[in-house]
Amino acid sequence: MKIAVLASGRGSNFKKLAEAVKDGKIKAEISILITDRETAGAADIAREFNINVCYLPFKKFPDRDAYDREIVSILKQEKISLVCLAGYMRIVTPIFVKAFENKIMNIHPSLLPAFPGLGVHKKVLEYGAKFSGATVHFVDTGVDTGPIIIQAVVPVKPGDTPKSLAERILKWEHKIYPQAVKWFTEGRIKIDGRTVTVEKASYDSPPVVPALEDF
Ligand code: GRF
Repeated sequence: MKIAVLASGRGSNFKKLAEAVKDGKIKAEISILITDRETAGAADIAREFNINVCYLPFKKFPDRDAYDREIVSILKQEKISLVCLAGYMRIVTPIFVKAFENKIMNIHPSLLPAFPGLGVHKKVLEYGAKFSGATVHFVDTGVDTGPIIIQAVVPVKPGDTPKSLAERILKWEHKIYPQAVKWFTEGRIKIDGRTVTVEKASYDSPPVVPALEDF
């Protein structure tokens, strides 16, 4: 199975996926990294893992639809079966979502549906929430609204800053994203409307549901 990763930033989640593939935990190939930012750390990680990098600057396209049509055409050409958004800072258009329905995953650093969008950790702290977490979900045409695959719950502690909370959550992101991708490559993820089920997984072991098996 061929996977594409789309990232705009530092790329730590992308790195964890690449490591899991390299270690043989995920039996698939990451064939391409597409980035909209030339200086993205993710591009350096791709080179480190000998993954093909495609830099697509948005300013070269007339609008978002044209940009996403180009991405879809690259992904089809590469025969990609799963697209992983990993810190990809662009909202994907319906053109992209329809072309890869239930084949695009995203990782978001909150317990969705709470705190979608940007500036998540600051919003969580300002709200006074006592739990936050991380969510891997399929991507639909909304912002962080697609069917949820796996979530990890993380406590918010007195004295937390957006940075300390982000760090605590990122450790779980690095486990749940490779796990979700592994399940997908094993064909164990079933989707019924908004409800995603992982076949033969345990649903009785917080803080991560379904329970981690491999990470
Ligand atoms: C992560 O917190 C992810 O949840 C969010 O963007 C951040 C990307 O970090 N979507 P990295 O580039 O994977 O290190």
